[in-house]
Amino acid sequence: MHSDNPALNGSNTNANKKTNSTDQRPESLAIQLDEKGLFLSLSTGVCYFNYYWLRDACSSNIDPATRERVFDISGLPCAPYPAAVNLQNDKLIIDWRDEQHQSALSLSMLDEFTANGGRIPDVADIPRRPWYADGYTKFERLKQHDIETDDTEKQRFARALIENGVALVTDMQNSDDSLTRLATSLGPVTPVVDGYYFDVRLSINPTNLAYTANALELHTDLPNEEAAPGVQFLHCRANDVSGGLSLFVDGTAVAETLRNEEPEYFNLLSQHDIPFYRRHTTWDYRAHQRVIELDAAGNVSGLTISQHLQDSMDLPQNLLDDYYPALCHFLRMLQEDRFVSRFRLAAGECVVFDNHRVVHGREAFVATEGERHLRGCYVDRGALRSTYRTLCKQ
Ligand SMILES: [Fe+2]
Repeated sequence: MHSDNPALNGSNTNANKKTNSTDQRPESLAIQLDEKGLFLSLSTGVCYFNYYWLRDACSSNIDPATRERVFDISGLPCAPYPAAVNLQNDKLIIDWRDEQHQSALSLSMLDEFTANGGRIPDVADIPRRPWYADGYTKFERLKQHDIETDDTEKQRFARALIENGVALVTDMQNSDDSLTRLATSLGPVTPVVDGYYFDVRLSINPTNLAYTANALELHTDLPNEEAAPGVQFLHCRANDVSGGLSLFVDGTAVAETLRNEEPEYFNLLSQHDIPFYRRHTTWDYRAHQRVIELDAAGNVSGLTISQHLQDSMDLPQNLLDDYYPALCHFLRMLQEDRFVSRFRLAAGECVVFDNHRVVHGREAFVATEGERHLRGCYVDRGALRSTYRTLCKQ
């Protein structure tokens, strides 16, 4: 602590100052300066704020036109330290010692920040709602026209994708443009090696199992990409074949169940990366991914699984003694009736889902009769959340 600093010695300072009668804050609101930050009593209790953080949070650092930060904290002559600190109305006022600058920070902003665990509150930070075998009956259903003409419906669409990881859009037109309009209502279409759009139907020279009539095991799409696609759209243009039911599973719900039932297996699948690939004549993609992804709080935040794109395991062979049984157990769990939602996607419907959460597959179908055609594309998950936040502001 800088004992030679007048602010800490109680002279020429407003540290520990009680709020005056014009303040909206309670009488007990007080400030205590420390060496690298200050303690401030807020409605959430006594909170500590680092001086760099306070200097960086000054609203004058943000350009009003671009709304971008126009302050370079590395340009300060030395570590920021207050010359004086005051409470004025609903603001924390700091005069900085080594520069001609005063910062005014809203106490309600500081309150919100601390109440949210030291993070800027985010309306898109919605807890996942798990679903199981009857999930299909509960999917949010929205008409494309309503999404296009009513922002409340678009907001419901985006929220369903964040909360449930899936939504069903109905009344789609039988056109390429119909999918483009729906996808771009959430964000820009992101390309993969197949291009911006792909068509799931029989191909004479298939580059993916999806383009055959075979069953397609439960998977997430394209783990061979460094950043696997985020939100996936599958617009059903025709589906009058025998078989070919869609299989959808809430992968994060299964992973959380695995954590409870087989914690050792869960630890193995959430701690080690395994290789994926996609090779054909003119491409050779490779990436390592974790089957069960955790966020900073340890919650399951995603899933990556695809046996048809899984490369030769390169974990140490003795680790594979334990890893393979865990992976096989999880793969079998994903197929259990308690988790799998089976349904027939009808022409005019588009199933939209989080490719890092929803594991999907298809039963085999008879290729000699009828037609099955799904047209698909991807949008980034960041774009989905951006759209949701923007709609919430309106
Ligand atoms: Fe797929």
